[in-house]
Amino acid sequence: MEVVVTRDEFRKATSEARAGGSRLGFVPTMGSLHEGHLSLLRAAESDCDFVAMSIFVNPIQFSSAEDLARYPSNLAQDLELARDGGVGLVFVPPVVEMYPRGEPETTVDPGPLANRLEGASRPGHFAGVATVVTKLLAICGQCRAYFGEKDFQQLAVVRNLVRDLDLDAEVVGCPTIRESDGLACSSRNRRLGPADRESATVLCRALQAGRECLKDAAWDIEQVQRAMASVVAEEPLAKLDYAMVVDPVSFEPPASRAGELRLLIAADLGGVRLIDNLGVRP
Ligand code: PAJ
Repeated sequence: MEVVVTRDEFRKATSEARAGGSRLGFVPTMGSLHEGHLSLLRAAESDCDFVAMSIFVNPIQFSSAEDLARYPSNLAQDLELARDGGVGLVFVPPVVEMYPRGEPETTVDPGPLANRLEGASRPGHFAGVATVVTKLLAICGQCRAYFGEKDFQQLAVVRNLVRDLDLDAEVVGCPTIRESDGLACSSRNRRLGPADRESATVLCRALQAGRECLKDAAWDIEQVQRAMASVVAEEPLAKLDYAMVVDPVSFEPPASRAGELRLLIAADLGGVRLIDNLGVRP
């Protein structure tokens, strides 16, 4: 496994892999790898001949310096997991390599989708994600790029930007990986104290309650949203941000009964923001 730190090295190594006839899989991450990340590596490994991964904690997608400073990092362990996961190339650029002039003058505006739900609570977050993903895909060149449904709105932002900016990537969405009690794997889970960790299953419990309610509540979306919110209200350590049912493409209230719906939820547990989502066919 090769580890590179400059854009030129990453560009060269991915070009060489393609020139050798390999189909390239690319998994962008912020490191601190867990089972969710490893599932993306496995998907890439099974579809592609050569897997590249990036580890870059992207400062411009964090709203506060404090949140950025608290982001966990464990490079030595990440590299070991990457090697075990069959990764051929890891791109670990320092911040000055990705942003040599500081905050970039040109950024990617992901449009109205970026102002809803997660975007409403974290202004500028999706512009930061869209900008770094555009840069990473531009440097990587033609690839299949793997993203998790765990960050369902981020996946939609990435699909839109690849389509609208004609990036040479095929975006592959992968299912959410969960702990045995249902909590979606996330780097943030490590910041939960024991009591908050126990209460954190409230997100997936609320989603399941929403799914059950959708079966009964003859198309009353607001009733479904209230059912999810009331599960969170019963958990004293959790503070709900939103519990919404949306169309999985527009993220607007669903216009018809046909097709899949997405239940999306965000809550604060002891100062740690957690998100989760579930696809449902009514
Ligand atoms: P990060 O949080 O490290 O996540 C990297 C990838 O792993 C994302 O595509 C995310 O959706 C996926 N992932 C995280 N938890 C998962 C889970 N439980 N199941 C399945 N997939 C999961 O998301 C980012 O980094 C950044 O925003 C990034 C896209 C790298 C841009 O900076």
